[in-house]
Amino acid sequence: MKKIKTIGIIGTGLIGSGWAARAIHYGVNVIGFDKNTSQESSFKESVNRALPYLKKLTSDLKMPKKGKLCFTTNLNELINLSDIYQENVPENLKLKSRILSEIDLNSDPKKIICSSTSGFMPSKLQKNFKNPERFLVAHPFNPVYLCPLVEIVPGKKTSNHFKKLAKNFYENIGMHVLLVRKEIPGHISDRLQESMWREVLYLLKDNVANTKEIDESITHGPGLRWSIMGINQLWFLAGGKGGTKHFINQFGPALKWPWSHMKAPNLNKKIVERFSRGTKKQTNGKSINEIEKIRDDCLVAILKVLKKHNFASGNTLNIFEKNLKKINK
Ligand SMILES: NC(=O)c1ccc[n+]([C@@H]2O[C@H](COP(=O)([O-])OP(=O)(O)OC[C@H]3O[C@@H](n4cnc5c(N)ncnc54)[C@H](O)[C@@H]3O)[C@@H](O)[C@H]2O)c1
Repeated sequence: MKKIKTIGIIGTGLIGSGWAARAIHYGVNVIGFDKNTSQESSFKESVNRALPYLKKLTSDLKMPKKGKLCFTTNLNELINLSDIYQENVPENLKLKSRILSEIDLNSDPKKIICSSTSGFMPSKLQKNFKNPERFLVAHPFNPVYLCPLVEIVPGKKTSNHFKKLAKNFYENIGMHVLLVRKEIPGHISDRLQESMWREVLYLLKDNVANTKEIDESITHGPGLRWSIMGINQLWFLAGGKGGTKHFINQFGPALKWPWSHMKAPNLNKKIVERFSRGTKKQTNGKSINEIEKIRDDCLVAILKVLKKHNFASGNTLNIFEKNLKKINK
């Protein structure tokens, strides 16, 4: 397959325009297509709004020449001009299947077709394809131009060749590719977000807390840690010097208590072993003290950034500083 010079963005809303900004900044041309003809101006506006952030992010790098941005209401034009297709129409299985099949039927089978779907399984979407081996899910996170994660989910009929091509492409536009080895509705990250959202809705329904209180319970606590380490590595540290064994002994029983509306799986030997072994491997030979140091150094740096923007925990720091000044006067 020839070098990917142009990406076709099908559906130019929030996610489509995020993809477009990222691609342009990393030197890939963009052609956007939307069924809504009046979308062109808001698409271009969103892309232009995002570009300065990308510039800031990479200010110390020698970036390639920016890609060009254009828009069409003619799907065939997009099909002919693009080297890769990124579908971002609303989360509706029938609509996505129809558009993706149309692209499959009318395009060069050497070109990759990807969907940004938040939850549909690729095997379902590629079911009616003539060339299903070149289809996969490439699920990004909003704002796509700043969040590096893309979950690549191959379907039953996706070939290794196209998996590799896709990985290469997304890495070239500055992304972290997480290859989802087993397809499942909601992929990995959205399943986690969805579980939390469902719990949030229960807290609201039962009037336990309002949206602000719920959000604070994240932003000023666990959320601050999550950009540095995922929940497994943090739980590993939560076991203190006793490690995962101590953690499981302490919090394992809670899985049977009503701490969540979701029913936990049985905490059997296999799960415990996967958790302990997995988190140990993640340490990469580092001691608990060393990992705690990384976490804390990063937390301080993130808090400083939040303080500069006077947001979330950064606002708490600023208020504290202000009060301290008053006391010291
Ligand atoms: N919003 C998020 O945070 C997020 C994150 C990751 C993935 N996604 C996924 O990305 C996809 C798009 O989501 P979004 O938030 O950008 O939605 P959106 O509503 O902002 O954008 C959808 C765009 O698709 C266009 N569209 C509708 N029907 C079309 C058709 N037949 N042909 C061409 N264009 C059509 C609309 O005019 C609109 O511009 C969904 O599958 C969603 O699940 C969303």
